[in-house]
Amino acid sequence: MNISPAEYRQRRAQLMEKIGQGTAIFQSAPTAVMHNDVEYVFRQDSDFFYLTGFNEPEAVAVLAPHHPEHQFILFVQPKDPEKETWTGYRYGVEGAKERFGADVAYSIAELEEQLPQYLEKADRIYYHLGRDHHFNEVVLNHWQRLMANYPKKGIAPRALENPHPLIHPLRQIKSQEELALLRQACRISAEAHNRAQLFTQVGHYEYQIQAEIEHTFRLQGALGPAYPSIVATGANACILHYINNDAQIKENDLILIDAGCSYGYYNGDITRTFPVSGKFTPEQKALYEIVLEAQRQAIEAVQVGNPYNQIHDTAVRVLVEGLKELGLLVGDSEEIIKEEKYKPFYMHRTGHWLGLDVHDAGAYKVNEETWLSLQPGQVLTVEPGLYIAPDIKPAEGQPEVPEQWRGIGIRIEDDVLVTASGPEVLTADVPKAVADLEARKN
Ligand code: GLY
Ligand code: MN
Ligand code: MN
Repeated sequence: MNISPAEYRQRRAQLMEKIGQGTAIFQSAPTAVMHNDVEYVFRQDSDFFYLTGFNEPEAVAVLAPHHPEHQFILFVQPKDPEKETWTGYRYGVEGAKERFGADVAYSIAELEEQLPQYLEKADRIYYHLGRDHHFNEVVLNHWQRLMANYPKKGIAPRALENPHPLIHPLRQIKSQEELALLRQACRISAEAHNRAQLFTQVGHYEYQIQAEIEHTFRLQGALGPAYPSIVATGANACILHYINNDAQIKENDLILIDAGCSYGYYNGDITRTFPVSGKFTPEQKALYEIVLEAQRQAIEAVQVGNPYNQIHDTAVRVLVEGLKELGLLVGDSEEIIKEEKYKPFYMHRTGHWLGLDVHDAGAYKVNEETWLSLQPGQVLTVEPGLYIAPDIKPAEGQPEVPEQWRGIGIRIEDDVLVTASGPEVLTADVPKAVADLEARKN
């Protein structure tokens, strides 16, 4: 299962239409050292991958729609049999042309020499000033040189512009081929959660559950975790990005598992929270049902045309009403929401776009005041939670939280496709109803 060459071509054509007389430059992801001479597994930059499908480091892609001969140019590592013996196959310059559809390809060593011809007649340069300061300088130096020649030549790129507002709206709407990969990422992630639910028992360590999950990822052909798996038992669940995963599971704990795999570079992102001993305590159950209802209503808000923030607003309202019923918040709901007095219990937002990045590219707002409207083909997470840390400090004017509520952390997260006929939950195979979680067998 892969994105077809035709789709990559179409993506570049769509972007080139927006680039017009400009030239866009995209750099591959950096490599990173784990220790000494060992590197982390290479992961391509998502914009670069979206446009090329090319999965090697030390590469630059250029789109120059106005150029008479070459509109798609790749600079890549040349073939090098000796190096390839150590670090693996390279497509090389020929491969970049033949396999990845570049109009022309060069060795990355020729970048300085060849880049100017693709910039000199452009009206602007689209380039994201990233973390690679050396490459930023390369682009800025070229621009500066071309501008210095402007009086004599009468032409030069007049502006440097970030390409994100052009490419990220494309990435936000998923194609059928992308959806096939996302569905597979979600299916494998769901299977891993189901296995983890069966495997979990009192006395296990969190890392053992993590191993069970990540075993399933790899076994099913996923690249691995989309992000560090969170397996948090008891009060650890109140730490949002808890990744130590080294505690032992105790009787009557809830366990929060937030894990998803990356499949063909597309990501799943699922959270479930369940009682390890097979039964919720009354306090756990009361809080769990509030989060579940918040998630149900928030998913219901995933309708074409709704402003993005309606999902979050819906979840917050349900959480606030629920906490009021339990006496954990007091006062007027509007005021609690406006003054964010719920934040000691719920400090994150209710989701994010999902795709090639877990927190995927694309704006949430069209301007300062206006949220983006939901459109078919967008994929997002819906992930409300409640977190009552052992040392929770209530907001001003709110009551102290009684001891029996403390140390409970709950989040429920699903991945949802926006469709014309309503929300489609891609991760619905993992149980989340109280009765199902209590009937869990191990
Ligand atoms: N696992 C990261 C997130 O849920 O956003
Ligand atoms: Mn998420
Ligand atoms: Mn998550």
